[in-house]
Amino acid sequence: MTKEMLENISLPRHIGIIMDGNGRWAKQRGLPRSEGHKAGAKTFRAICDYGAELGIECLTFYAFSTENWKRPADEVAAIMNLFRDYLTEAEEREEENAVKGMRIRYIGDRTALPADIVDMIDKLEENSADKKTITINLAVNYGGRDEILHAVRAVAQKVQAGELKAQDITLNDIDGNLYTAGLPDPDLIIRPSGEYRLSNFLIWQAAYSELWFSDILWPDFTADDLDKAIIDYGKRNRRFGGV
Ligand code: FPP
Repeated sequence: MTKEMLENISLPRHIGIIMDGNGRWAKQRGLPRSEGHKAGAKTFRAICDYGAELGIECLTFYAFSTENWKRPADEVAAIMNLFRDYLTEAEEREEENAVKGMRIRYIGDRTALPADIVDMIDKLEENSADKKTITINLAVNYGGRDEILHAVRAVAQKVQAGELKAQDITLNDIDGNLYTAGLPDPDLIIRPSGEYRLSNFLIWQAAYSELWFSDILWPDFTADDLDKAIIDYGKRNRRFGGV
């Protein structure tokens, strides 16, 4: 996107991206599915950098859902290894990321993740907590319903402890206990690969999100495609239930 275009457009503050189509991308090339995820991880890095360049405040990537454990064990292991590679690299490139002002956050249920990955996430979250240009949220072992359940349990505990009355529970109580607490709701959600559903991604936060779909498979998704999605978003008339 040119500087001029950028000046004339209202940028989404938060974009959610469902990284779909890696398997089909690999199949088209006669490669194992893991190669598709590897190519997808490359696209993820490129889009993180481009998002920071554009001035997007927050990008949330759906990398692994609470339902993805059903996949063959070797595919799950390959995705976890890509995640490890990224976390190791992010640690090594801490200075570079600091210059970019990149904050990295994890969203999801970390209790089921391998311990070494949890350690790396904790470290990365801590070390990047003060960065303010862009927040990259990695959704791994993430499910929207699971997230809401987790938030409801936290609120119920307060009620049980006598700290809050049931009739006084507000939307903010739920919101504040989601994994995304403190972040703006996604303005735009992008799903490539020709599927037209949210698949349990940010289902609470997506109440008023603009949705953008495309047939491109995630490994083929480029900065130009992000531009297209943002330009389309800029033409939408967001009313949030008003007129
Ligand atoms: C969906 O495509 C993709 C996934 C379940 C995994 C996405 C993971 C990555 C891109 C790598 C994660 C790494 C980092 C560093 C975040 P699919 O396999 O369902 O594709 P298909 O529908 O074509 O089979």
